[in-house]
Amino acid sequence: MEKHSMLYEGKAKKLFETEDPSILLIEYKDSLTAFNAQKKSTLSGKGSLNNKISAYLLEFIGSRGIPTHFVKIVDETHQLVKKVGIIPLEVVVRNITTGSLCKRLGVKEGVELKKPLLEFYLKDDALEDPIVTEDHVSAFEWASPAEVEILKRISLEVNKLLKERFLQVGIVLVDLKLEFGRTPDNTVILADEISPDTCRLWDISSGEKLDKDRFRKDLGNVLESYREVWERISKGEKR
Ligand code: TMP
Repeated sequence: MEKHSMLYEGKAKKLFETEDPSILLIEYKDSLTAFNAQKKSTLSGKGSLNNKISAYLLEFIGSRGIPTHFVKIVDETHQLVKKVGIIPLEVVVRNITTGSLCKRLGVKEGVELKKPLLEFYLKDDALEDPIVTEDHVSAFEWASPAEVEILKRISLEVNKLLKERFLQVGIVLVDLKLEFGRTPDNTVILADEISPDTCRLWDISSGEKLDKDRFRKDLGNVLESYREVWERISKGEKR
């Protein structure tokens, strides 16, 4: 598949058209941003790790019957995906309290939730991705009520599948962020990436963070942690 014109450049990825109008090529970049890009860095090898981790996880989820945009991995930093119209929402599913949840509500950090907590955020950098309710989603028609039900069902299912998969390799899935798109026939499918940039992953025995919080909080060993995640899931190591 050839790399045609660039459609879009985001903080961590570039999107290119290909000779097939229904297929896009994603290039995973080495750049790393946090706090709505107020903090920026470049880590050589990060793009390749996220490309591989995301391809692996999307393929895994797909094999369990969840429709995703993933088509195939092409090389170290590129993968092919189905072109979709992105739904302007980020769906966050949390298993353990941390991050913006604790900041916003003053609740204790590190508490296991009785059941996964699902939140919607509006994808809008200028507004710093504000949290929104289902009523906002329907009032402004960001997604239809039927689509909201699909987003919730798929997000909870993906959380369950990945929680179990990560546990097999000694990693706790603390929370994750998912994005969705509509195919030309208006089917809602999972889109974007699933990687240590978009999940919180803690080592089950040490509690060590193996995700972008290492960068957000200046904990060091960012790349090493992403590599650790990739090595564990790709080897299917049982702990
Ligand atoms: P939060 O606690 O900062 O709201 O993050 C919740 C989850 O969403 C966490 O796994 C990190 C992920 N996330 C993104 O993927 N992109 C973002 O822009 C933000 C703020 C969080």
